[in-house]
Amino acid sequence: MTKAVRVHQVGGPEVLTYEDVDVPPPGHGEVRISQHAIGLNFIDTYYRSGLYKAPALPFIAGNEASGEVVSVGSGVTNFHPGDRVAYYTNLGSYTTERNIVADKLVKLPDAITHEQAAVLMLKGLTVFYLLHKTFRVEPGHRVLIHAAAGGIGLLACQWAKALGANVIGTVGSKEKAELALANGCDHVILYNEEDFVARVKQISRGELCDVVYDGVGKATFPGSLSCLKPRGMFVSFGNASGPVPPFSLLELNNHGSLFATRPKLNDYVGTRRELLEAADTMFAAVLNGKLHVPIHHAYALKDAQKAHRDLESRATVGASVLRP
Ligand SMILES: NC(=O)c1ccc[n+]([C@@H]2O[C@H](COP(=O)([O-])OP(=O)(O)OC[C@H]3O[C@@H](n4cnc5c(N)ncnc54)[C@H](OP(=O)(O)O)[C@@H]3O)[C@@H](O)[C@H]2O)c1
Repeated sequence: MTKAVRVHQVGGPEVLTYEDVDVPPPGHGEVRISQHAIGLNFIDTYYRSGLYKAPALPFIAGNEASGEVVSVGSGVTNFHPGDRVAYYTNLGSYTTERNIVADKLVKLPDAITHEQAAVLMLKGLTVFYLLHKTFRVEPGHRVLIHAAAGGIGLLACQWAKALGANVIGTVGSKEKAELALANGCDHVILYNEEDFVARVKQISRGELCDVVYDGVGKATFPGSLSCLKPRGMFVSFGNASGPVPPFSLLELNNHGSLFATRPKLNDYVGTRRELLEAADTMFAAVLNGKLHVPIHHAYALKDAQKAHRDLESRATVGASVLRP
């Protein structure tokens, strides 16, 4: 019997229910995977709480994982039992076994572990598109990354530094500051204690930033706009502290003809071709040493409630996995 963590009604971490589920044989175009590791993401909490609407109740939580192909449905020719694979998707990853459309899977290079793949498919691909596509980070750019010691944050700081940027990160504690500095940040701001806008002005000697990557949302808005130089890019890609409130477009004018975007992974890495290109670039970044992907926290799948509590109370750093 397959074990999964399901949500029957949205709410706090207590609604995550570890239980038996039936998984039918894989359908046409589907692959059955025995999962080895599941990535923990803030997005998982949005679906659980109802901030993001799941298509139906109950649903299996979770949005990325890695595992081994155990069988394939009709029409699948490019995957075989024993293949090491990983994916990101909308929901369904908090489980020991599952079926998934073959087009969502990528094969893993030998040197990438299942746990690394499980935390890279959503977080690493997101960092790829944010830094390469949403705003193309180039040598000399000054980049502000909020929550720099988080799952996305640590990868983004390393990658932005490797692209030649000057990286400023915000973090919630001194321990997180040390970690961010060891992972590509040139400057760290303790935004719970310091006025991050004033510090960005000071650090940049008034020149401000080319781009702000903001996954924190409500708490860092509108301060993030004040950190941008004229024609800078505000990339609001998440809501860890709550969604950015509605605002007037005139704010962008007042802050210097800014650009603003609210991107999501599926709009950048939605086609098979985009997925394979992005995954190749991301795995190459790991294999050539540009990106280090340690696993900072590991939980048993049945302890998903604790994992969500830790993530939402800012007790985690870097990447976390659930072990089926
Ligand atoms: N748009 C996309 O395509 C996309 C894809 C993936 C993820 N995301 C977004 O990326 C962001 C980071 O995701 P993640 O999974 O890597 O999470 P994470 O950064 O590991 O965890 C969130 C961090 O946000 C900071 N934070 C600030 N205010 C907070 C608050 N009130 N409550 C909780 N945390 C707060 C905390 O760091 P400090 O203690 O240092 O402040 C916390 O550790 C999320 O907003 C997520 O939705 C977006």
